[in-house]
Amino acid sequence: MFRLISTVQVKTCSKCYPVYIGFNLLDFLNVFLSRNDLKGKFALVSHKSLIDIYGGKIISSINRLDSDAVIIDVPEGEESKSLNVLTQIYDVLVNNRFDRWSTIIAFGGGVIGDLAGFTAATFMRGINLVQIPSTLLAQVDSSIGGKVAINYRGKNIIGAFYQPNLVVTDLNLLKSLPIREFNSGLAEVIKYGVVVDPQILNILENCSKPLPDDVIAELVTRSCNCKARIVEADERDEKDIRIMLNFGHTIGHAIEAASNFKINHGEAIAIGMVYEAKLSVMLGFLDVDVVDRLINILSRFGLPTSVNQLDIERILSSLRYDKKIKHGKIRLILLKSIGNPIVHDDVSIGSIRKVLKM
Ligand code: GLY
Repeated sequence: MFRLISTVQVKTCSKCYPVYIGFNLLDFLNVFLSRNDLKGKFALVSHKSLIDIYGGKIISSINRLDSDAVIIDVPEGEESKSLNVLTQIYDVLVNNRFDRWSTIIAFGGGVIGDLAGFTAATFMRGINLVQIPSTLLAQVDSSIGGKVAINYRGKNIIGAFYQPNLVVTDLNLLKSLPIREFNSGLAEVIKYGVVVDPQILNILENCSKPLPDDVIAELVTRSCNCKARIVEADERDEKDIRIMLNFGHTIGHAIEAASNFKINHGEAIAIGMVYEAKLSVMLGFLDVDVVDRLINILSRFGLPTSVNQLDIERILSSLRYDKKIKHGKIRLILLKSIGNPIVHDDVSIGSIRKVLKM
């Protein structure tokens, strides 16, 4: 049987949907699909490595609804978020006579969520979408909130806001994640703790390691709640609310790029959070104790906290190309205290250079 731990409801202007969080949910996918009135044709978009292990149980679960599913195997990696792969998926859907009542199941991490989500958003002007995130990062962030996109001469250049009909978050999937990837997802969990829900930080400071199942379930539930509340308040990222989720991301993305992506997303966000917190101290908003606390929590989970050997000028030049630069000025999320972020519209490159050298 499955063990449903929590259901987070997301209520946006465009769609209301549940995020089911628990153990062993994949085997009973039919229960969650039928609770949400999904039947007809399904396309399972995923990677071979996941299809080999879980494809069978997902398809049999769909068959229990007297429905059929086609499997669409997409190569791993950011390169799959392309027009070329997108049209290959459209071809499979057209060849199999998918219609407006059909459903795409996005089963994977951020790349699959973005690509399959964008397919669902655009095929027949929008069909049903189920997100089944397989990584911690996707479970607490990208599967919720409807940002979907492909790359075109730059990252996420063609995209949409398109909310899923439901999200099925099976925590068993985390058990096979490499520890580096799991910790990378924890960086986003820590970010929610810093920006929205300070209780997350208390849990991470006091829990045993490796994290017990009940602690993981609580952290994922709390993180999904944070994301849901923020998305509800600012679905289309235009009110300076959703942007708070970018704490650590502006400097983090520049670090990721300057390292030629040897530093992964979560690790770069961890370092970015430390420097954006240090900047908050330097500009007089934040008490330095918060930076020390943040560094201790990140280090507890093996996450890096400094730019070390990276070329600071390279980080700064990546920063100049960030999408969040508004009217030539760098917009950063700074902190006044834990749980109290602010948008700062006018941070100078000079002050960022100074903080990166600290
Ligand atoms: N990952 C940030 C957002 O969804 O807005």
